Amino acid sequence: MKTMKAVCIYSYGGPEVLVYEDAPRPHPGAGEVLVRIHAAGINPVDWKIREGQLKTLLPHTFPLVLGWDLSGVVEALGSGLTRLKLGDEVFSRPDILRDGAYAEFIVVKESELALKPKSLDHLHAAALPLAGLTGWQTLFDAGGLSAGQRVLIHAAAGGVGHVAVQLAKWKGAHVIGTAAAKNHEFLRQLGVDQVIDYDTERFEEAVQPVDVVLDAMGGETQERSWKVLKRGGILVSIASPPKAEVAAEHGVRQAFVFTQPNAPQLAEIATLADEGKLKAIVETILPLSDATRGQQLSERGHGRGKIVLRVV
Ligand SMILES: NC(=O)c1ccc[n+]([C@@H]2O[C@H](COP(=O)([O-])OP(=O)(O)OC[C@H]3O[C@@H](n4cnc5c(N)ncnc54)[C@H](OP(=O)(O)O)[C@@H]3O)[C@@H](O)[C@H]2O)c1
Repeated sequence: MKTMKAVCIYSYGGPEVLVYEDAPRPHPGAGEVLVRIHAAGINPVDWKIREGQLKTLLPHTFPLVLGWDLSGVVEALGSGLTRLKLGDEVFSRPDILRDGAYAEFIVVKESELALKPKSLDHLHAAALPLAGLTGWQTLFDAGGLSAGQRVLIHAAAGGVGHVAVQLAKWKGAHVIGTAAAKNHEFLRQLGVDQVIDYDTERFEEAVQPVDVVLDAMGGETQERSWKVLKRGGILVSIASPPKAEVAAEHGVRQAFVFTQPNAPQLAEIATLADEGKLKAIVETILPLSDATRGQQLSERGHGRGKIVLRVV
């Protein structure tokens, strides 16, 4: 059997359970594509799964290849495929219940792949699928954000936040973002209209009422966010499910989003990137063999933009 380099876990645990090794190369079945991975994004969900935080929600079996953000090239096609062809450059946030992308190869359902942005190299394309789909599905699908509305985006300089603020600006919204002071100029350059220092300002005192809150923090940040919503507005969280009864007390709505693969939305994200309306900011590039260091950096929770593994 042919093998590939991959970063796997055999049990839940700390960074020490990550193993860089030779693993079996997967084969595509019907409706599936074998992708030669060039770059893989690192996201907090990777180390949350490694630690076993999500084992009830996402029942995995071991060994498990981590990482669900990728850019690469179509290497082989399973049966019944018509949309993609060998050699196509693609990107994806694939099914999180299956083996991930810290590897030289991955099998992905064709329905989860889109052509990568032509203007981006693989390292930058790999930074976009999970963050882009999260921004799209929170702001537009759940939040219904439209031109002229006001949105507060927490953790605006992070992997999700820096993409979400650009999507909200593209939509024509007035965008307010929270971040540490070191990231304020970065956010202004991305077009954020009002930047709030979460260390020194109470955002609920500094912000005029908004139509949508995107909550990537949960906890106290979520609790304080109800007050900044207009009546009928919506708090969309990706951190922890907001309480429906608390939303009702404030006369607002709530939603929790767990990002799903979506090729048509990825294609729209690719178009925005090629039109120069969406930038992928990659702060750190590491070799695949250094996935442990990448996860440790991600766990600190103060990254600007994304961390990406170079595979090719
Ligand atoms: N439900 C889903 O489907 C889904 C999808 C994607 C992400 N998520 C979750 O969303 C969270 C963010 O993901 P990410 O990829 O953006 O993480 P990330 O790249 O690690 O970014 C985290 C950001 O949080 C900021 N931050 C830290 N403390 C803050 C505070 N008190 N107030 C405001 N911002 C603060 C940091 O900015 P500073 O450097 O400025 O402090 C950092 O940029 C993670 O918990 C992740 O698991 C969930």
